Amino acid sequence: MTTPPPSPWAGTDDLGAAPPGCPAHGLGPGGLRRIYGPEADADLAGLYEKLRAEHGPVAPVLIHNDVPMWVVLGHSENLHMVRTPSQFTRDSRTWRAVRDGTAGPDHPLAPVFTWQPMCSFVEGDEHQRLRGAVTGAMSGIDHRGIRRHINRYTNQLLNDFCQNGHADLVSQFAEHLPMMVMCHVLGMPEEYNERMVQSARDMIKGTETAIASNAYVMEVLMGLVARRRANPEEDFTSSLIAHPAQLTDDEVGAHLRLVLIAAYEATANLIANVVRMVLTDPRFRAQLSGGQMTVPEAVEQSLWDEPPFSAMVGYFAKQDTQLGGQRIRAGDGLIMGIAPGNVDPVVRPDLAANMQGNRSHLAFSGGPHECPGQDIGRAIADTGVDALLMRLPDVELSIDERDLRWTSSIMSRHLVELPVKFAPRPPQDVTARPSAQLPPPRRDWHVSSPAPRPAAPAVPAAPPSPAAVQDPAPETVRPKGAWQRFLIWWRGY
Ligand code: HEM
Repeated sequence: MTTPPPSPWAGTDDLGAAPPGCPAHGLGPGGLRRIYGPEADADLAGLYEKLRAEHGPVAPVLIHNDVPMWVVLGHSENLHMVRTPSQFTRDSRTWRAVRDGTAGPDHPLAPVFTWQPMCSFVEGDEHQRLRGAVTGAMSGIDHRGIRRHINRYTNQLLNDFCQNGHADLVSQFAEHLPMMVMCHVLGMPEEYNERMVQSARDMIKGTETAIASNAYVMEVLMGLVARRRANPEEDFTSSLIAHPAQLTDDEVGAHLRLVLIAAYEATANLIANVVRMVLTDPRFRAQLSGGQMTVPEAVEQSLWDEPPFSAMVGYFAKQDTQLGGQRIRAGDGLIMGIAPGNVDPVVRPDLAANMQGNRSHLAFSGGPHECPGQDIGRAIADTGVDALLMRLPDVELSIDERDLRWTSSIMSRHLVELPVKFAPRPPQDVTARPSAQLPPPRRDWHVSSPAPRPAAPAVPAAPPSPAAVQDPAPETVRPKGAWQRFLIWWRGY
């Protein structure tokens, strides 16, 4: 590992003989590596490992338009950054590149870093006011009720393709379920439709039509704000409006959009990743090992291996400081490297070891901005995937795993499609109450893992999730009593 100069913008010259600015070498001005463009598109994870080897846990890089930033690769360095608001802020107005115009409104990542009056961009008292309103509104969500809705929506989606015997679980399942659930949570189930899904995708892709899509989503959300201001109901939007923080209509609208889009993008990625993992990863196939792993545990392993947001752009230094051996200057921008932090060899010397019971991944960040919606995200993924596997126990990939395609950017990496096949079966009445007819046990879908090994020595194991209730193993399925029949009904069967 080389010792870098005090500031990345003084230049690093230890990266080989490629001419600065040569796109083929992924190197830009100062010999800094670009984390966008062909090399990054081909293998961003590999590029992060090169950077880790060259610079250690914090590396100087270039983002689009060759704007310099630091990328934080170390697990503990990421945690230190997000947990130290006295030194690092999410307020992008602090960033030198914004102040001097090198990262202006036309920058490709402007939609994610441009300051807005929302909890994700503010600090201190203002952060507490806005975030307090969001978490206050979330505390009113009935979590048990939500799981029943997730089940019903999953079965509704499955009804659309179960007779075909094949489907693309990205476009026909993963991208729809979170939008259906979030429209319900916000209090506008009738507004869920294909256009909402397409608009949300469009907004985060930053396409030419993103502005029109944003306008459509905001029109829907502001209509909801006006209706609930006049006639409150029992939903997230009404609670947000009624919160003592007294948010203005614009603030309510901005936070509804934040919640809708954060939940949609991240949870859609998570669902697709978990389904892929369960379908392809030998660690999760019952017949290959003796242990048992539930879907919630598969969700947690996926949050380590394929975090739905692979990085956050960004955090900004409020003062001169040190991080990971690098000298950071006031005004520098830093990317929270969620995916590289999750595979930091300091905490995961053996990437094949399963992380059962250990929730200290960076997928939901940490510190004052830690994702407040993580329980909802987890509930949508584990309830949705569980219901999918209950309904289609014979589901399998219809193409070779190596032919799966991914798109990646600095912020996220996601599957383009997940083609699967299964025996065609008739649609199911999603409003049905429990009957004496019980489904057969999910013999094939007790996803399994090797017996737990001590994981991540540097990271203390978090207590197991209350949601991570072990399903009975196929071998131990007993005749179902009243409680189990109730559970089956509660899950929507
Ligand atoms: C698997 C799903 C999800 C993942 C991986 C995820 C991840 C994240 C991450 C990494 C952040 C950034 C924290 C930071 O700035 O350091 C965040 C913030 C946030 N998320 Fe999530 N999220 C998920 C689901 C949700 C859901 C379902 C909701 C709402 C119901 C939600 C609401 C928010 C909000 C409001 C913030 C901003 C918090 C603040 O700045 O104080 N997220 N999320």
